Amino acid sequence: MNIVVIGTGYVGLVTGVALAEIGHDVCCVDIDANKVAKLQKAISPIYEPGIEALIEKNIEAGRLSFSTDLKSVVVDSSVVYLAVGTPQKQDGSANLDYIEEAATGIAQSINQDTVVVVKSTVPVGTNHYLKEYIQKQTPYQISIVSNPEFLREGVAVHDVFHGDRIVLGADDEVALEKLEMINQGFHIPIFKTGLESAEMIKYASNAFLATKISFINEIANICEKTGGDIREVSKGMGMDSRIGSAFLQAGIGYGGSCFPKDTLALNHIAKNVDYDFGLIQSVIDANKAQQLKLVKVLKSHYSDLNGKQIALLGVAFKPETDDIREAASEVIIEELLRCGAKVSIFDPVASANMKAVFGNKIHVADTISEVLLQADAALVVTEWNEIKNIQLAEFTSQMNHPVVLDGRLVFDKLEMKQAGVSYYSVGTGELQINEPIYI
Ligand code: UGA
Repeated sequence: MNIVVIGTGYVGLVTGVALAEIGHDVCCVDIDANKVAKLQKAISPIYEPGIEALIEKNIEAGRLSFSTDLKSVVVDSSVVYLAVGTPQKQDGSANLDYIEEAATGIAQSINQDTVVVVKSTVPVGTNHYLKEYIQKQTPYQISIVSNPEFLREGVAVHDVFHGDRIVLGADDEVALEKLEMINQGFHIPIFKTGLESAEMIKYASNAFLATKISFINEIANICEKTGGDIREVSKGMGMDSRIGSAFLQAGIGYGGSCFPKDTLALNHIAKNVDYDFGLIQSVIDANKAQQLKLVKVLKSHYSDLNGKQIALLGVAFKPETDDIREAASEVIIEELLRCGAKVSIFDPVASANMKAVFGNKIHVADTISEVLLQADAALVVTEWNEIKNIQLAEFTSQMNHPVVLDGRLVFDKLEMKQAGVSYYSVGTGELQINEPIYI
């Protein structure tokens, strides 16, 4: 089947490449000529393990191409995937400008009846609206299928071939059958729904996972006062199949381009229908506080952060990505700088992105030894393998004061104590920093 995918961000690119991999002829379209030129040479604009090899393989097989010209590529295709961004507006609602722009592009380019498959995360009701929006601008028959995406950054290539379900929402049986056929090659269970349900499944899934994270973080905070190790608590809870072990890892909260945006958008959707979604507001508030948890602990141990040298181990919002959108690291750095601390960061791939935000206000270290050198405290922000595998002796040999605050629970409390490190980790009982307050 000839398929056009509009948008080469995480969702569009991974979708296009995966559809090519299962045998379809796919052209990915983007208005960014630079991006397209790179992709034509199999260079990925995003850091995503495994994606470049798949791009190269499918270009060589003649199944995958990239273009800036929607009109010329859409002539052969009756199926167009829409995978452009829906960024957050100031009030938390989703900005549909890019979607509408792309929808107009589709209306002006197609030369036959077309199924538009919406991968972008859009508020409930948007797909109905989009159908009318495109239909008004074209004589050809438009069908809309909502096909929300559930892949995670950093493991997107794995997720796209091993998802738990493919959700297809439509009120048009013929379009649904077409999409079912397209997706058969993934061998993933297909769940067919109405349009609004599909749209809501996406928001509700992300909001529920965010709720699990905020819930376990709140329990972690209580464990610090009552005693109890959050790692044991999470494991014990997760063994109950009704609860499940996924997304119960406590730490410094969720970041990224999805959970923060989608929880806000869902809250906005609820407000629009006069529903007070207090639960999701609490999840959002708890996450905001949790992102600054390490700074709060740091402040309780150094009476004054002015002039203190603080090392950040990791800045990406999660490992295996260079994405720093809504990452805890950004608010942590902002607060540390506000308090007059000197900030040094290390991240295997995301440092340059953070440097672009803070410029000369922060120092970027090329190695872990360098970031730890002369530091008064190190904050573990992202659980990269490089960071998990640090030789504990590095903390005592490199740092001015070997104080480690672990926001991702990667080190062992006892081993840290034996290595002579003053150590705190979220939710693992009482604070382990026994050293005097350094002033
Ligand atoms: C998330 C969803 O997991 C995907 O299903 C969805 O498709 C995607 O959003 C999207 O809407 O596009 P993603 O944001 O890439 O994926 O990453 P996650 O692995 O879900 O992690 C999100 C954040 O939660 C990270 O900051 C991570 O560190 C944090 N997290 C995750 C925890 O703090 N604890 C956990 O137990 C799990």
